[in-house]
Amino acid sequence: MVARVIPVDPFDLVVFGGTGDLARRKLLPALYHRMLGGQALPDSRIIAAARSDLDAGSFRHRVKEALRDHAAPEKLDPERLAAFLTTLDYVRVDAQGEDGWDSLFDRLKDSERMRVFYLSVAPQFFGPISERLATSGCRTPDTRLVVEKPLGRDLESARALNRQLATIFEERQIYRIDHYLGKETVQNLMALRFANALFEPIWNARHVDHVQITVAERVGVGGRGNYYDRNGALRDMMQNHLLQLLCLIAMEPPAHFEPDAVRDEKLKVLRSLKPLVGLGNVVRGQYRGINGEADYLEDVENPGSRTESFVAIKVEIANWRWNGTPFYLRTGKRLRARMSEIAVVFKDAPHSIFPESAGGTHPNVLAIRLQPDEGITLRLTIKEPGPGGMRLCEVPLDMTFAETLGAQGLSIPDAYERLVMDVIRGDQTLFMRDDEVEAAWRWIDPIIASAETTSERPQPYDSYSSGPEDALMLMHRDGRRWRALAA
Ligand code: NDP
Ligand code: BG6
Repeated sequence: MVARVIPVDPFDLVVFGGTGDLARRKLLPALYHRMLGGQALPDSRIIAAARSDLDAGSFRHRVKEALRDHAAPEKLDPERLAAFLTTLDYVRVDAQGEDGWDSLFDRLKDSERMRVFYLSVAPQFFGPISERLATSGCRTPDTRLVVEKPLGRDLESARALNRQLATIFEERQIYRIDHYLGKETVQNLMALRFANALFEPIWNARHVDHVQITVAERVGVGGRGNYYDRNGALRDMMQNHLLQLLCLIAMEPPAHFEPDAVRDEKLKVLRSLKPLVGLGNVVRGQYRGINGEADYLEDVENPGSRTESFVAIKVEIANWRWNGTPFYLRTGKRLRARMSEIAVVFKDAPHSIFPESAGGTHPNVLAIRLQPDEGITLRLTIKEPGPGGMRLCEVPLDMTFAETLGAQGLSIPDAYERLVMDVIRGDQTLFMRDDEVEAAWRWIDPIIASAETTSERPQPYDSYSSGPEDALMLMHRDGRRWRALAA
């Protein structure tokens, strides 16, 4: 199978924060890969804007180094790399002051290309930069604005940000990134659910016992301790990535695969989440160092911190489809394995026709693996092969995308590749709308408030374990268990 690549129109992409971590590790490698894929550039321009005192040459040199570290090694072809570097430019701009705005405008003013401003900077700059884009003349009616997370730190600040952006851009111009939506398997969730007639009739509380959504990381807070300690797992992961995954699993089929049709359905899920009172269905944890490795408190350099590096929540959706089916969500750092998956656990067979000696049936589980080893597994009960009468055993029906699609010549692109190209194409389907972001905060704000006022500290858990004991209990008390964390 050959991937169909439709080249996008030439564009001017201005990356505010082009010298930062996200640009270096994700954004610029993604653009390089899209150029290699024949989808973007070479007539386009990428203009990095930041405060560092660099010229275009030294910026290109930095990017070259970054690509060596973060682009796929087999794709580092010197000629193509050189071609990519020529599309890069650098402007020194102070987001909060006067410096550099005229130079940026000069770079853009004679260009007829479509214009994107990607704000890969701290969120306090989103408002000031947007305003300067308007007053400096850089904004055109077709300009697109991309904003990174975090989109506020509660409902009030998210609303304020949305209102501020709305005074400068129309909603159709604003692309709020949740990079989980760009992951190949996450998009595949929609294909799986809505392009196959098989699942829809059983995709409801009558047949689904429960759903588990896990986003587990092996890494700690890394160099982002300061940011992380102010946000914790609830704000950093649960409010956005996990709730978005929940929406895609739980939403009704949209009438069309169009931005507002999809986002309307996700919004309905967010608005149907049962409010949680107190922390009865919430477990928070903080990692403890093992074998001399630093623990959370050392990593964030805040010995008194009560911020959680792990959270598990039992969520219920109050609507016809899901009433009575719990969704268990967990995410954390320094866990046993890097593993993100969604497991839909179906109800047991209503009656077993087999004798006890057969070993009993097992509930079917549809596991959608987001990373690593993207793929889908359906666990089925079959007869154990060979003689000896009827003995039942559980087997996986396995599809690893890399194997299945790799064998056909397709590779899985990074989420940012897809998302940046969607911005250029003007497709907002995989971006969050203002009301979605606000609905997610509206639901999670009381949980965060309870977490911030409780006298209980987050429960310690050993690094590289499955998380705190109470998280296991959250399911055990319902007679269920988490799936093992395994790479
Ligand atoms: P960094 O701190 O690494 O980079 C910040 C960037 O902002 C630098 O390029 C810096 O450039 C620039 N900057 C700072 N102050 C100014 C200013 N006054 N005017 C112009 N530019 C300025 O941050 P990250 O790259 O990690 O994060 C960027 C955004 O992306 C944040 O909103 C973050 O929450 C979000 N994000 C990051 C992720 C990651 O993995 N890094 C993951 C998901 C979201 P200079 O120093 O040259 O001025
Ligand atoms: C980011 C969070 O949004 O997602 C990080 O801020 C987290 O804390 C990261 O590590 C995880 O993304 P991925 O794609 O590596 O699963």
